[in-house]
Amino acid sequence: MKKGFVFDLDGVITDTAKFHYIAWKDLAKNLGITIDEAFNETLKGISRMDSLDKILTYGNRENDFTLAEKEALAQTKNDEYVKLLADLSAEDLLPGVHDFLVQAKENNIPCAIASASKNAPMILEKLGVLDFFGHIVDPETLKKGKPDPEIFVKAAESINVEPKDAIGFEDAQAGIEGIKAAGMYAVGISETETLSGADLQVASMTELSVEQFMHI
Ligand code: BG6
Ligand code: MG
Repeated sequence: MKKGFVFDLDGVITDTAKFHYIAWKDLAKNLGITIDEAFNETLKGISRMDSLDKILTYGNRENDFTLAEKEALAQTKNDEYVKLLADLSAEDLLPGVHDFLVQAKENNIPCAIASASKNAPMILEKLGVLDFFGHIVDPETLKKGKPDPEIFVKAAESINVEPKDAIGFEDAQAGIEGIKAAGMYAVGISETETLSGADLQVASMTELSVEQFMHI
């Protein structure tokens, strides 16, 4: 019955969606494709290459590039994204996150990261919270991305917690679906979107306490 917490990163620990958006928008513009914020919503939780494929399909350019060219485009996007993260610091933690992680530590509840982002370790380091996490799932090791449950099952296993005793925190619909398919309790965090299938939804982590998850 040992509990464990599994967190998505982008949109749960910190708000990097705005930086992903700027970098994808610039890349798309150079390819003659215009994306807006509503389209950006559909990229949340989706891997870098899958996001690029979605953008190319959206702009009817899905057959215009070789794999090597697509890898170069994804690299260009990531270079801009990483530049935009240069000033990221503890001040960029979303409200309530630090307090919740401290409570988890005080209660000896292990925490893991289940993020599609290959930049997760660097981002957590910049935010000053890397040490709170027992494990960060390496997205390179996954066969399938969210909404497949694989990343969440791996995250729970990595901290020696059975999925049924793990609580997952997500801001994206694909993530909630993955958490539920893994057999875990799903907490949706979003002010604007209704996350269907979540066991509990809050606008911010300030509304949560570790205590409320001890006996679910
Ligand atoms: C997810 C984001 O966490 O990570 C997506 O929600 C992003 O928008 C994906 O594309 C991959 O991130 P990265 O940092 O590896 O390009
Ligand atoms: Mg997210």
